[in-house]
Amino acid sequence: MKPPEIDGDQLQRIIDQHRGEKWGLIPLLQEIQENFGYIPPPAIEPVAKALNLFPSQVQGVITFYAGFALKPKGKYVLKVCRGTACHVKGSRSIIRLVQKELNLQEGETSPDYQFTLETVACLGACFLAPTMLVNRSYFGRLAPARVTSLLDQYRRNKEDEST
Ligand code: FES
Repeated sequence: MKPPEIDGDQLQRIIDQHRGEKWGLIPLLQEIQENFGYIPPPAIEPVAKALNLFPSQVQGVITFYAGFALKPKGKYVLKVCRGTACHVKGSRSIIRLVQKELNLQEGETSPDYQFTLETVACLGACFLAPTMLVNRSYFGRLAPARVTSLLDQYRRNKEDEST
């Protein structure tokens, strides 16, 4: 399946809002990523032009910061914590379960662009270990049954949209 289409006008509008902002590269990239879920590679050149930078400088910043992605992600980005507090509370089995349920390895996106699976060092909610973040929603004290029902819920959202 092809990745979701990028609205070129919307992209241009975002870039224009930051035109000439010498120190505005990171906020601009953040805004692009917030709107599209990643930085579409064709955006690099117009971003560089708008801020009077070389495309290689823009590319360098994108690859330096782990938070920026050049590949489209799924509609639901799952970040399962593998930090110490979560590890002690069984995050490894949670990660394995999510991998099995979604048929994805760490860093992969499903072919229908519904799910991306990532793991992170700490979600900053250790008291809720083991934790997982789906887009902006935190889920804590996860047990396998809860993970399965959450994933079912997100899968159902997908089906509801296609009907
Ligand atoms: S170690 Fe998992 S939230 Fe901190």
